[in-house]
Amino acid sequence: MASSASSEADGVAVVGSGLIGRSWAMLFASGGFRVKLYDIEQQQVTGALDTIRKEMKLLEQSGALKGSLGAEEQLALISGCSDLREAVEGTVHIQECVPENLELKQQLFAQLDQIVDGNVVLSSSSSCLLPSKLFAGLVHVRQCLVAHPVNPPYHVPLVELVPHPETAPATMDRTYALMRQIGQSPVRILKEVDGFALNRLQYALIGEAWRLVEAGIVSPGDLDLVMSDGLGRRYAFIGPLETMHLNAEGMLSYCDRYREGMKRVLKTFGPIPEFSGAVAEKVHQAMCVKVPDDPEHLAARREWRDGCLMRLAKLKGQVQPP
Ligand code: NAI
Repeated sequence: MASSASSEADGVAVVGSGLIGRSWAMLFASGGFRVKLYDIEQQQVTGALDTIRKEMKLLEQSGALKGSLGAEEQLALISGCSDLREAVEGTVHIQECVPENLELKQQLFAQLDQIVDGNVVLSSSSSCLLPSKLFAGLVHVRQCLVAHPVNPPYHVPLVELVPHPETAPATMDRTYALMRQIGQSPVRILKEVDGFALNRLQYALIGEAWRLVEAGIVSPGDLDLVMSDGLGRRYAFIGPLETMHLNAEGMLSYCDRYREGMKRVLKTFGPIPEFSGAVAEKVHQAMCVKVPDDPEHLAARREWRDGCLMRLAKLKGQVQPP
């Protein structure tokens, strides 16, 4: 168990030090784990360590640093590494964060398969590659799973745990416990499916949003308000199923009352949009009115979003359900 910034802390390897790798490194350090950060590009690691230092200091100043250790103690737990074998040696968990390319990830896992022993968990951050493809033919397949974070992982705690058909239950259990230990909110996807759960829900929403705009039923700006001032307000606290339960006298009462209406509306959903052409132009223009698509405006808006997410996290910590 990792308990302090001492040399006894359990080790974790993060492979790939881009956007997601950096976030994982910070999260594991916040839980008191020793983190080896490896990247095929040494410069990436150096840059990542710099960025992590700056981010942790800012988080500490704003009171949003996770975990019980201070920023310096957490930073002392993270080190860069230019050798894969050295990075993974003696670790309890390896979090792969290389670009979303099946062949690249397969090659990396084949390499790791030859290095690791039977005790470490091999975990991929993949957003949408299936475990049956990622881990096919590996000797250590029982130790493999996908742990898919949500961007930005430091501020959005959900992690989808997705097993290969041969993943050992103990691998899921261990990773579930590890995610809880670093303050994330894991969910178990019981059987792999394209898009896992989060992106299936997200794409269902995006698809219908697009169709409504394409059909001229609502403007792009108002469509986003339907979420941010409507559905999203509840969804930060309760999911769609609990919403049903609370919006009537329990779930069965909701189904009795709204079953026919839901089925009628669902039957009117159109085909998969193309997400291109004139509609894409129209939506793009509307988004640029609010947030121009140059790097400065996009970065400023992301910073604002992350600040909102931090404040929401504080609020969620304060409002425990009765
Ligand atoms: P990124 O492009 O920011 O970082 C990838 C890093 O991997 C780079 O530093 C690159 O030098 C390094 N790399 C490339 N080949 C390597 C190798 N063979 N060994 C070691 N390092 C290598 O990518 P990002 O956004 O961090 O994504 C990483 C993974 O996380 C992807 O699978 C992505 O689908 C997933 N993910 C991304 C999210 C996002 O919003 N960016 C959200 C959730 C998951």
